[in-house]
Amino acid sequence: MPLEVIILAAGQGKRMRSSLPKVLHPVGARPMLAHVVDAALHLDPARIHIVTGHGSELVRGTMESLYPEDSGRLSWALQADQKGTGHAVSQALPDVDSKSRCLVLVGDVPLLDPADLARLADSSASLALLTAKPSDPTGLGRILRDSDGNITGIVEERDASPAERAIGEINTGIMLARAEDLTRWLNGVGCDNDQGEYYLTDIVALAVAEGCSIDGVPAGDADRLRGINSRADLAAAERGYQKLAANALMEAGVTLRDPARLDVRGDVHFGQDCMVDINVVLEGDVTVGDNVTIGPGCVIRNARIGDHSHIHPHSVIENSVLGRHCNVGPFARLRPHTELADNVRIGNFVEIKKSSLDEGAKVNHLAYVGDSSVGRQTNIGAGVITCNYDGANKHRTEIGNDVFVGSDCQLVAPVRIADGATIGAGSTITRNIDKPGLVVSRARQQTIPGWKRPIKQPPEGKS
Ligand code: UD1
Ligand code: MG
Repeated sequence: MPLEVIILAAGQGKRMRSSLPKVLHPVGARPMLAHVVDAALHLDPARIHIVTGHGSELVRGTMESLYPEDSGRLSWALQADQKGTGHAVSQALPDVDSKSRCLVLVGDVPLLDPADLARLADSSASLALLTAKPSDPTGLGRILRDSDGNITGIVEERDASPAERAIGEINTGIMLARAEDLTRWLNGVGCDNDQGEYYLTDIVALAVAEGCSIDGVPAGDADRLRGINSRADLAAAERGYQKLAANALMEAGVTLRDPARLDVRGDVHFGQDCMVDINVVLEGDVTVGDNVTIGPGCVIRNARIGDHSHIHPHSVIENSVLGRHCNVGPFARLRPHTELADNVRIGNFVEIKKSSLDEGAKVNHLAYVGDSSVGRQTNIGAGVITCNYDGANKHRTEIGNDVFVGSDCQLVAPVRIADGATIGAGSTITRNIDKPGLVVSRARQQTIPGWKRPIKQPPEGKS
C-alpha cells in the first residue's frame, strides 16, 4: 500500500507576532516546515501534500526552491479559512490516493525524529497515534484510555475536565491511517467544541465507535515533538536543534570545547580528531578534513578546510577553499572565492578576496589582497594593499613565486610581478615588474643640513 503524507501548515501562528508565516521561521537556518518535509522524505512517500493558508504563495515558493529535485513529489492544498486541523486534512484528502496509507504531520514540529515516524509506519492498526509524555503537557490534547489501557479518544485541553487535564500522555498531532478511513471519519466530525473548529483529533472516538484497532506509539523523546507557537518556543527549538547537531558531531569524532556554544546552520562534515572551540558558527556547506582546529569565535560559511589546518580565533571564512596545514587568523577575513593551497599562512587583520595563494605563501599582518594570484613561497609584508578598484572596474594583480613584497606597499592593478622580485617597503607599484631584483619606488631619504625646528612666537602685546 503506497504511503502519502499530509502536512498541516495553514495556520497563521498568531502568537509569533510576525508577518512571516509561522512555518517559514527558521530553525538551524532552515524553515521549520523544511525540517518536517526532510523527516517525511526519510519514509520515501509517494507524495507529500502540504496544506497552506496564511502566506500560501510564499510558503509554496520557498519550499519549491528548497526541493528542486523533489518538487514533483510536493503537492499543494489551499485551506482558505482555518477551520481546524480536521478541516485542513479534508482539503488535501481529495488529492490523496484513497488506497494509500496516509501520515498526517504538523508543520510546526521541526525536531521530529524520522525514527519515530518509521515506528508509526510499522503499526498495522487502523489508526496509529504518535503519543508522548512531556514534562509539561499544558495546552496539548490528552490521550484518553479505558481501564484496559485501550485508547478511547483525544480531548483538547480547553475542552478537558480537571481529571482529564491531569493525564500526562499527549497527542503529538502526528497520526497514520488509510486515506479512505480518514475521509469517512472526517465526514462525521462536527465543530461542537470550545473553538468551533473541526478537530482532527475527533476521528479517534469515531474510529473507536466503528470498532477499529487503535495503536498509541510512544515517541522516543517527547522534547523533539514540541510544537512551536511563540518566539520563546522557537528559541527553545533552536537550542534543541543545536544540541542534536552538536551530539552528531561529537559522535562523528569531533571534540567540542562546549557543545552548548556551537551553532550549526547548514550541512557540516568533519574528518577525525578535529577540535572546535567555543562560540563558533558553521553555516551552509562546510567540509573539514582531519586534525583541524577551529578557534573561538570563528564564523565559517560554505568552506572546505584541508587536514591539519588551524583557524585561529575570531576569523571569518566565506565561500573559500583551504588546503592542508594552513594557518589563518586570528582576526582574518577570507571573503568569497579565496583559494589557499597547502601551508599558506594568513595572519591577523588580513582580508583576502577572490584570490588564490599558492603553496607556502604568507600574508601575515594587516593586508588586503583582492582579485589576485600569489605564487609559491611568496611573502606579502605588513600593510600591503592590492589596489584592485579604480572607482569603476576591478583589476587583477598577479604576483609570481618567491616574491618578497616589503611592508606598506601598494600594488596598483592591473599589475604583474615576476618570480623572484623583491619590492622595497613603502613602494607604490604601478607598472609590471618583469624580472627578479630589487624594485623601490619611494622617494629617497635625505638629511637637510642646517634645518631647524620652528620656534613658537609669543602672542602680540606680550613680551
Ligand atoms: C494540535 C492538536 C492537539 C495536539 C497538538 C500537538 C487538534 C485539534 N489538536 O493542537 O491535540 O496536542 O496539536 O502540537 O488537532 N492547522 C491548519 N489549519 C487549521 C488549524 C491548524 O493547517 O485550520 C495547522 C497549523 O498550521 C499547525 C497544525 O495544524 O501546523 C496544528 O495546529 P495548532 O493550532 O498548532 O494546533 P494545537 O492547538 O497545537
Ligand atoms: Mg500547535
